[in-house]
Amino acid sequence: MIFIDACLKKPTPYTPVWMMRQAGRYLPEYMQVRAQAGDFLSLCKDYKKASEVTIQPVDILGVDAAILFSDILVVPLEMGMELKFIKGEGPVFDESVKNLEDLEKLDSAKAVKNLTYVYDTIKLTRQNLAADKALIGFLGAPWTLATYMIEGQGTKTYAICKKMLYSNPELLHQILDKVTAACIGYAKEQIRSGVNAIQIFDSWAAALEESAFFEFSWKYIIKIVDEIKREFPQIPVIVFPKGISGYLDKISGNFDVFGVDWSTPIKTAREKLSPKYVLQGNMEPTRLYSKTAIDEGVSHVLKAMKGAPHIFNLGHGILPDIPVEHAKYFIKKVQEDSRR
Ligand code: CP3
Repeated sequence: MIFIDACLKKPTPYTPVWMMRQAGRYLPEYMQVRAQAGDFLSLCKDYKKASEVTIQPVDILGVDAAILFSDILVVPLEMGMELKFIKGEGPVFDESVKNLEDLEKLDSAKAVKNLTYVYDTIKLTRQNLAADKALIGFLGAPWTLATYMIEGQGTKTYAICKKMLYSNPELLHQILDKVTAACIGYAKEQIRSGVNAIQIFDSWAAALEESAFFEFSWKYIIKIVDEIKREFPQIPVIVFPKGISGYLDKISGNFDVFGVDWSTPIKTAREKLSPKYVLQGNMEPTRLYSKTAIDEGVSHVLKAMKGAPHIFNLGHGILPDIPVEHAKYFIKKVQEDSRR
């Protein structure tokens, strides 16, 4: 698998490429399966359909890796929090975690056990996916999951969880500990079910100032990485703490690949983290609206990463209104222009 070779710094014939959120609404084939399934969560829970949409971007775009179709929020859901995805609003929990009593109702071990639909999706996908294509599993970083659990939904200000961070840090640590326990068990089960690599999404890392990031987010990510590596040293782990370019000097750990978001200059990431870590990223996702912008973006990133271990990706997820033809053009361009 060229993607796994790249994760392990082995030579590859070209730079492997995939896109965050590559299985999704910009694909008419996805919309068709999604309509059959009903709502988004029903699709996640239907392992045959989830597996089908996991493989779609490999067949349609020729990406070098598939990413499991699911969502980071199935972990708090299966810990015991009722979750709905509301059109136009995103994810909403019936009840948020406000105090120790709320937290005590949640069960990490139950989540690891109840996520069988994800493990079934992985097993079926690994059976049907071409042998040279990697299957990437994923989870949300505890901090990013906690923001949804504490706010009850997405947030622009993070006011409720930051109020807890500064006025009751012990409670936030207790929440993060419990979520981390679920994440560790969940990651290991994904690996036992057949994923070839695992990515940890910390989408809301940038909400935290430096000291808070290392105390409330990074520490827990590293705990998960260490636990995975202790049992599965051969499985590449990718971390994606989004928007923390100012803190790169202090980043280190037992992971293999660092996901660079689009706001971090790729040259800066290379100077600070390469070649110790393989870099993944980081074309601005909205460049996909224009072929000229794609040409410039691909050439810029390939040039900046020439001679260093690299996996091509967008610097965050693809948007729902990107023309499929542009996505295809992007993938082919990376694979052709990086050929050595
Ligand atoms: O293709 C892939 O990348 C795999 C599937 C995937 C989804 N969510 C499917 C999804 C992955 C890896 C995620 C991760 C995820 N989910 C993150 C971290 C990555 C990131 O983008 O920063 C976060 C923060 C979430 C939480 C979440 N899920 C939100 C905020 C939303 C609503 C916004 C939106 O895009 O609609 C979701 C829903 C969601 N997750 C959809 C998909 C395909 C859209 C559901 C639909 O079909 O309508």
